[in-house]
Amino acid sequence: MIMIICLLLHETPSASPSALLLSYQCWAKPNGPKNKKPKQVIPAIECDVRAGKVSLPEFIVKCPPRCRETKQQVYGTGVFASISSICNAAIHSGVITNSGGKVIVRKMAGQNVYKGSNSNGVRSLSLPKWRESFVVSVGKPKKGVIYPSTLDYVPSRPTYVKTNQKETITVPPTTTAPEPTTTTPEPTTTTITTPTPTTASTTTPPPPTTKARPVDLAFLMDGSWSIGKRRFKIQKDFLTEVAQTINVGVAGPMMGIIQYGDDPVTEISLKTHSSSRELKAAIDKIVQKGGLSNVGKALHYINKHYFSDANGNRGGAPNVAVILVDGWPTDKVEEASRLARESGINIFFVTIEGPDDNEKQNLIEANFVDKAVCRTNGFFSLPVNSWFALRKAVQPLVKRVCDTDRLVCSKTCLNANDIAFVIDGSSSVGTGNFRTVLQFVANITREFEISDTDTRVGAVQYTYEQRLEFAFGQYNNKAELLNAIKRINYWSGGTSTGAAITYAAEQLFSKSKPNKRKIMIVITDGRSYDDVRAPALAVHRQGVIAYSIGIAWAAQDELEYIATDPDKEHSFFVDEFDNLYKFVPKIIHNICQEFNSQPRN
Ligand SMILES: *[C@@H]1O[C@H](CO)[C@@H](O)[C@H](O)[C@H]1NC(C)=O
Repeated sequence: MIMIICLLLHETPSASPSALLLSYQCWAKPNGPKNKKPKQVIPAIECDVRAGKVSLPEFIVKCPPRCRETKQQVYGTGVFASISSICNAAIHSGVITNSGGKVIVRKMAGQNVYKGSNSNGVRSLSLPKWRESFVVSVGKPKKGVIYPSTLDYVPSRPTYVKTNQKETITVPPTTTAPEPTTTTPEPTTTTITTPTPTTASTTTPPPPTTKARPVDLAFLMDGSWSIGKRRFKIQKDFLTEVAQTINVGVAGPMMGIIQYGDDPVTEISLKTHSSSRELKAAIDKIVQKGGLSNVGKALHYINKHYFSDANGNRGGAPNVAVILVDGWPTDKVEEASRLARESGINIFFVTIEGPDDNEKQNLIEANFVDKAVCRTNGFFSLPVNSWFALRKAVQPLVKRVCDTDRLVCSKTCLNANDIAFVIDGSSSVGTGNFRTVLQFVANITREFEISDTDTRVGAVQYTYEQRLEFAFGQYNNKAELLNAIKRINYWSGGTSTGAAITYAAEQLFSKSKPNKRKIMIVITDGRSYDDVRAPALAVHRQGVIAYSIGIAWAAQDELEYIATDPDKEHSFFVDEFDNLYKFVPKIIHNICQEFNSQPRN
């Protein structure tokens, strides 16, 4: 019986490496006495394989040594979100050590909250919600249980929305731009796929590029040998012109450049140059590196290294990577770009002289652009049919990368929240201090982008009772909202913080939008009359990220119950109202840091 199975597998024409391994195992001891027992073959995986990638409900794997050093992300404790690395979750759980080993993975339903914690040298993160979970256990199968010897992987992006609205448009030349310096005949058209509206928020005219919008832009320039000196120069001119058009500056877009070939190299980091003029001089000095067109490798590089805070990445600014590619990449891009998108990087592809019908057979990955970008509606891809038409792509490209409303892959920490303030109006606060609290609420609010489609703010005041001061979306611009905060009347009374949290969940978060992050900021100056623990736990379970701000007589244990884990990052205490202002930047920083460490898309 066993022999038959082995033979069948052996004869499968598309023998994958693990199938070969199996047949090796099968043939190794053809007639030994041990052959009575079916042999468990354990597929080996890399440190970065996430449980969600494997489309099996229960399976066994072998982890390599030293996964801890790779710092692959893990979400949860005990029960992990399926986006977590299997091997690192196993180290976190103590199922294996950092020297690797066998792990059994069992899938579970998605949870509303995953708690982050430090364990065995792995720091796992919190996550409000994910669609699927898993648990890990020691890789010793029970007697008689045979796990699959090969793993089925889930295709990365199973659902593509195909639109066929491709048309060839003439890009109007900019009147102020100098004439091209090349003598080569220049085609007058550039093929651009017309974008279809991507969000429900089709707020009328496209935003002007005159207003400074912070965007962190990385350009990946192709340095491969296929380009040649002349085209490489055209590419540099293009980047210079982009830098001038977007008007680089610390309050607006910042721009850096990576040159890729065999390997990517940072030519200009994000924070190095804060003006278009400086950038131009730096671009001039870039020398072609040569090599292949390894775009996937370059995407991996920007995701892991380039968009780091140390490198100048700004919390509130969308991350954009524009990949310029001559023809087509020499490696696969799908996986690397998915990971980059999941970290919130908006990927644009500018394909110059892409493959024609005859050349398509040479591609490593068919439809690589569609696989790499966020949506296949054309907004994130810009095919240009000749290097000599590249300058014409400057305007359309700049318009898109600065159109932060359309960067739908990039919800930022400042524009993607429903924030509820739960404000203590008890007698102990006093009129003067209450005004300071309102200032504090206003100062935090001021940092966010406020509109119906961006961050919305609601407020509840509580004593022994609760009252809704204003709901999410009741005031949809910053001025009105700040005004409404100022007008909140001091109530004065008891302190039932627990009931206030429940009230905020019912009155505010029940009307939260599904694509918003639910943030609750509870401000209190004393011990609650009622229990806060159960109400806090209930809102945590609903995916609310809770911050607690305690002043003067606030009770430390209650602040910690209210706050989302880790408490250190969500709970604050000040001895007097006059010191509240000190926490405004810290709270914004923590909200953004937490946002940026979590998967999106
Ligand atoms: C709020 O901001 C204003 C202006 O920056 C500052 O003077 C005030 O101290 C801040 N107050 C609080 C409580 O944050």
